[in-house]
Amino acid sequence: MNEGLNPNQILRWYLDAGVDETIGETPLNRYVAPGKVETKAVRTPHVPAPPPRQSQAQKNIQSNSEIVAQACEMARESATVEQLKKAVESFNGCPLKTTATNTVFADGNPEARIMFIGEAPGADEDREGLPFVGVSGKLLDKMLASIGLDRQKNAYISNIVFWRPPGNRNPTSTEISACLPFVERHIELVDPEILVLLGGPSAKTMLGRAEGITKLRGKWFEYETPKMSRPVPTRALFHPAYLLRSPGQKQLAWRDLLEIKQRLPKS
Ligand code: URA
Repeated sequence: MNEGLNPNQILRWYLDAGVDETIGETPLNRYVAPGKVETKAVRTPHVPAPPPRQSQAQKNIQSNSEIVAQACEMARESATVEQLKKAVESFNGCPLKTTATNTVFADGNPEARIMFIGEAPGADEDREGLPFVGVSGKLLDKMLASIGLDRQKNAYISNIVFWRPPGNRNPTSTEISACLPFVERHIELVDPEILVLLGGPSAKTMLGRAEGITKLRGKWFEYETPKMSRPVPTRALFHPAYLLRSPGQKQLAWRDLLEIKQRLPKS
């Protein structure tokens, strides 16, 4: 049929006949009778479909939930503050630990009736392994003294994460959620009569609220876990580091401190 035609003419002939693709998606057996189109020319052995691929985000979520589950178990098994400290020190699930020098667990008297929870250790705290020992710690000590508190006697201080975030950035939600089971257990074991959350990240995390510190300060909340026998009256307070940057807000912090003082158990 194509005798005497050059390749160009042959292609033109195909195009005119409507054949504008030379390769189809589906294998076609051209030996079957015309009209009977058999699309599965080759039988392939049955290979089970591979499991659906997990995205990196899904893998992260899974491993994050495993980390939180491990933190919960370690926290639950801690029956004393000392055991909890050891558990936190041996926990490797928070990525901040890899860049930190020391674990910063707590400072003060664990028998105190008032417990303060800040955000994260800074450079000084990382060096010394104790919370609030830098400049903002000095201001915190003055704030405590103004209402008759002293961390060596009647106040207990910790943070929502136990390791310094590099460059003093805010801890991420993953870092916070890895530490949170320990923080919750810490409060259960100390069993304070008043809880004070220093700064927005601490207040939002512990109260499970979305508002910022300006909205959360100035009122009482109740903090409770299923293991606690009673809810703890809880107050959010401006972070001392913020007060150093915005001294105009000290007035409001002072008001909050006086309200806290009124609720402090008389000893
Ligand atoms: N800021 C905090 O929130 N915690 C510390 O321990 C030190 C500074």
